[in-house]
Amino acid sequence: MSQIYASFKSIGAYVPEKILSNTDLEKMVDTTDEWILKRTGIKERHIAADDEVTSDMGAKAAELAIERSDVSKEDIDLVLCATVTPDYFNMPSTACIISDKLGINNVQAFDISAACSGFVYLLTVAKAFVESGMKKNVLIIGAEKFSSIVDYTDRSTCILFGDGAGAAIISATNKKEEAFVDVHASADGSYADFLVTPAPGSINPVSQKVIDEGLNFVQMKGNETFKLAVKTLTKDVKEILAKNEINSEDIPHFIPHQANYRIIKAVGDALKMKEEQVVLTVGKYGNTSAASIPMAINDIWESGRLQNGELMLLDTFGGGLTWASALLPFAGKAK
Ligand code: UT7
Repeated sequence: MSQIYASFKSIGAYVPEKILSNTDLEKMVDTTDEWILKRTGIKERHIAADDEVTSDMGAKAAELAIERSDVSKEDIDLVLCATVTPDYFNMPSTACIISDKLGINNVQAFDISAACSGFVYLLTVAKAFVESGMKKNVLIIGAEKFSSIVDYTDRSTCILFGDGAGAAIISATNKKEEAFVDVHASADGSYADFLVTPAPGSINPVSQKVIDEGLNFVQMKGNETFKLAVKTLTKDVKEILAKNEINSEDIPHFIPHQANYRIIKAVGDALKMKEEQVVLTVGKYGNTSAASIPMAINDIWESGRLQNGELMLLDTFGGGLTWASALLPFAGKAK
């Protein structure tokens, strides 16, 4: 029996229409366009409409990913969604709702929670299911309505985040050249308080106190997270390249999590990456958490920069704390 590998077959994304610019934020909190641009590289971010929810965005991204693959909806046998802003915090999962919106019924579907690392975490899960032979075509989605947990009076967080979704089809193949080269994910829960939404949850069920103290909003130790992100990501990407005996100059597309331009620049410089190798979307989307990497992959696909067989290096870091990286060829059709 020939070996089964997981391969990355297609990409799709959805970006909500409404734009929240730095100039808009200047009118909301004590900040400036200059500060935001200099400290983060962000110019604007997109915000979902009031009646547009995480599953709506995820379903739209997924429709595109399916359309751009050779896989039909009937062939999809697993639907996974990474999100920390699900439609419902407890149940049902956003993956179940997305499956229904897509008309994919009678399929295994579940969410995972790994914050900004969610999409690369999903790659590890999809790979395991596919390479064990349990599933053949996995739809993976990173979708976030981050604006639903942002306090727009807190200048330290509200300037950073945006909404959006990205999706991909991961399929079984016998072709070694289409296989994921490597993917790994890690976590250290001792840093849980670096990035946290204190409520709702079993520690803080919904109460008047939650509302009064704004415990439903994201809180972040920004500077501490920043320093740890640079250190951890640099080590992580160097390790995945060394382990697979690949030089950084041979990576056409370095697609990091889009949290802050300065983090991306520091890691890119440590790898001696040239500007044209590094994919940058943080300026126009801000940090969209689990959606950030697939939205960035979609950007280079839609602009015709991503060709069949080209290697992608992904890296990410987020709440948990979690981090992950992946090295894989794009095994789908170019635009
Ligand atoms: O995606 C998951 C992982 N998340 C991240 O990777 C985010 C990592 N963190 C960051 O990107 C950065 O830490 C921030 C952009 C959030 C902040 O940049 P920083 O260079 O680390 O600034 P800081 O937090 O050390 O704050 C410096 C100063 C402070 O004023 P004082 O105490 O020096 O007077 C802040 O109050 O900047 C002030 N400040 C602001 N000023 C204007 C903080 N936010 C703002 C703001 N506008 N929006």
